[in-house]
Amino acid sequence: MTGEKLAMFGGSRAVPPERASKELVGWPVITDAEREAVVGVLDSGQFTSNNPGAGQVQLLEREWAALVGTTHCAAVSNGTTALELALTAAGIEPGAEILVPAFSFIASAVAPVNRLVVPVFVDIDPVTFTMDPRAAAAAITPRTAAILAVHLHGLPCDMAELRELADRHGLLLVEDAAQSHAARYRGVRTGALGDIAAFSLNVVKNLPTCGEGGLITTNNDALHSRLLRLRQFGEVLEGRVKRDYVSHELAGNAKLSAVQAAFARCQLDRLEDYHEARDRNVRAMLDRLAALPGLRVPHCPEDRTHAWHILRFRFDAEAMGIEGVTPGGLRAAIERVMRAEGVPLQQYQRVPLPRQKALLTREGFGGYPWKLHPGAYDKEGEFPNTLAVIEDSLTLQRWHLNPASGPVLQDCAAAFEKVWGNLDRVATLARAMSPATAEAAR
Ligand SMILES: Cc1ncc(COP(=O)(O)O)c(C=O)c1O
Repeated sequence: MTGEKLAMFGGSRAVPPERASKELVGWPVITDAEREAVVGVLDSGQFTSNNPGAGQVQLLEREWAALVGTTHCAAVSNGTTALELALTAAGIEPGAEILVPAFSFIASAVAPVNRLVVPVFVDIDPVTFTMDPRAAAAAITPRTAAILAVHLHGLPCDMAELRELADRHGLLLVEDAAQSHAARYRGVRTGALGDIAAFSLNVVKNLPTCGEGGLITTNNDALHSRLLRLRQFGEVLEGRVKRDYVSHELAGNAKLSAVQAAFARCQLDRLEDYHEARDRNVRAMLDRLAALPGLRVPHCPEDRTHAWHILRFRFDAEAMGIEGVTPGGLRAAIERVMRAEGVPLQQYQRVPLPRQKALLTREGFGGYPWKLHPGAYDKEGEFPNTLAVIEDSLTLQRWHLNPASGPVLQDCAAAFEKVWGNLDRVATLARAMSPATAEAAR
């Protein structure tokens, strides 16, 4: 501990602005390979996934299935659509229920709603931040048809437990792998762990495209064939020389463009190398931070690898020796002092999913799908772990995705150490930012 003066009180910043350069912490990393690939598509005149032969979309699908270890992959327009089509392809009908973790990005809840499937929320494990299998078991009803295993922040869920639960109750096990590209659980990649899996290729993800995109993986031939129809107006294109415009089932347009696929293929070429560099950089930072009392760094159980999409840090006031603060007050104080040091810590998810305004008011679909079973969804559940994590933690996003970010992450570690060397100042600030304790003291 240095006791060095905090930047907030006139000291120098642990991470000066010029240090956070595009080269070291920008994401995605764009090279000449991407530039050439995008121009190559423009010159080819093959822009969509329904051009005959092996276009960029088909090549991306093959390469992603090979890496994940599934027989099939279907590319679609984004990760939310990927989740929606996965549910529909598997025959999850309107009015059915799906277990969704209370802690996730809104898409994990909205995708089922878009298909008139009711999300039933389940608390998380406070260490892995993924669905607690015991809470999931307790949430099953006769209407439950599926479990959505969200590998949040890049860490695979406890898939053995969820698989056992799904098999015991005859449920579909869907992976939301939007944040967990190439992570492994007991040697198997996310995307090959459930019955069907959805990935996002959004530009901020570990496997980004230059905009929006999604991938759906499965080993099930029938599910894959149906996905191909669902992304193309219900038409069958495969094995045909000429499109016949016959729609076999109701479906819209959810295709990925060839430009997005070509860009993503370049990123895929470097995914493993980037992961190894990220793993080294992040672990070097976390090893250093593990020594700071009351700072709970992200944990990766022995049987998994972590894609390190988002790094979440929890703060334990008692272990830090700080009294008279609320977890939220301490979090807010740490955010302020760390930002002053040049570390862009931020909240990611401010309420449990069921307390998102859209899900409280249920506006937009005339009260459906909940209205399909009147009275069944009047009570809001309890999500103590989700609430605690939201209150007492902050995240680092994007910077560490860049494989060259190692030295900046060391600076970030130095910023944490500096802040921990000034816990008396942090405590004073945290007390001022703790409304409940301030009121009690009055
Ligand atoms: C956990 C999770 N699920 C689903 C999605 C949706 O992906 P997209 O933004 O590509 O629609 C995201 C994207 O942020 C996500 O983080």
